[in-house]
Amino acid sequence: SDNWISTIQMDDIPEDDVIGIHVNGHQVALYKVEDEVFATDNVCTHGHALLSDGFLEDGEIECPLHQGRFCIKSGKAMSEPLTQDIKTYATRMENGQVFLKFS
Ligand code: FES
Repeated sequence: SDNWISTIQMDDIPEDDVIGIHVNGHQVALYKVEDEVFATDNVCTHGHALLSDGFLEDGEIECPLHQGRFCIKSGKAMSEPLTQDIKTYATRMENGQVFLKFS
């Protein structure tokens, strides 16, 4: 069933950057690239590090702990030492507000 949750204002996310939020009991990383917003789990699948403390470049987020990289659109693990993809969430904008879909 559709379960869209209101989060923050799109303007609260710096351009070409990432921030971490708590929503619906989840730690989520929100990324803004060229006026599009993407969302993944914030906790790395490899260890206890927050991707929102990492480095966003070319559509990939680099984990701050061991520099594993995920694609922010697909959640796909792109480099060692990652072995597991990260969960992504669908996003929707309405009146400048970012909504995430939890299923
Ligand atoms: Fe993220 Fe190791 S904790 S790459």
